[in-house]
Amino acid sequence: MSIAIALDGPAGAGKSTIARRAAKALDFIYVDTGALYRAIGLAASRRGVSPEQTDDVNKMLSEITVDLSFNEKGEQIVLLNGEDVSGLIRTPEASMMASAISAVPEVRAFLLDLQRNMAKTHNVIMDGRDIGTVVLPDAQVKIFLTASPEARAQRRYKELIEKGTDVKYEDVLNDVVTRDYNDSHRATAPLKPAEGCVMVDTTELDFEQSVEKIISVIKENINGTE
Ligand code: DC
Repeated sequence: MSIAIALDGPAGAGKSTIARRAAKALDFIYVDTGALYRAIGLAASRRGVSPEQTDDVNKMLSEITVDLSFNEKGEQIVLLNGEDVSGLIRTPEASMMASAISAVPEVRAFLLDLQRNMAKTHNVIMDGRDIGTVVLPDAQVKIFLTASPEARAQRRYKELIEKGTDVKYEDVLNDVVTRDYNDSHRATAPLKPAEGCVMVDTTELDFEQSVEKIISVIKENINGTE
């Protein structure tokens, strides 16, 4: 039987970078489910479909395919109608669209089987918002990774400044707080810790310490279920 690790938490907690490293160390596949919502967001932007127009969203869903594959380095590739859109989904516009479209229940239902099938066929660390609560409630290990809004905003602010972007820390913090609110207050599959999850707070941890902590939580809990 394959092993599933559900990793949820708010934006900016470092889930993807930490999970990618932990997956490599444990020889698991890292599945970034946000990329699936981003691909659907991209499809909607291309077609001019608004997330509020349920009929248009449903028609779009009946006409598109979204798939995951992995390259030789084990990196995830997202395919929209067979086209590799892994790079195109990383723009700020795609983030906005993904956030809006991910609140549509039909979109969430559309992606459910794909995510569950990945976990049936591979050992996975699956990163998202509702993996432990909805997608894989029976995952052997469920982790809720978080950090204070200030710590997450500070990390994001540092990244943006290093890239040469002119931003104010207060604006970045405001964005973090707004996104947290939206993610945790939507009607369908809101962000919340799953029952039986292990809470990991990285506010006081650096990247290496966070990776170590996640790996040790996974090892302890997998051993408990074998
Ligand atoms: O993790 P990310 O920022 O790439 O996710 C993009 C958007 O998709 C984000 O607004 C939250 C949403 N999302 C979700 O609703 N459920 C998931 N399992 C993963 C992402």
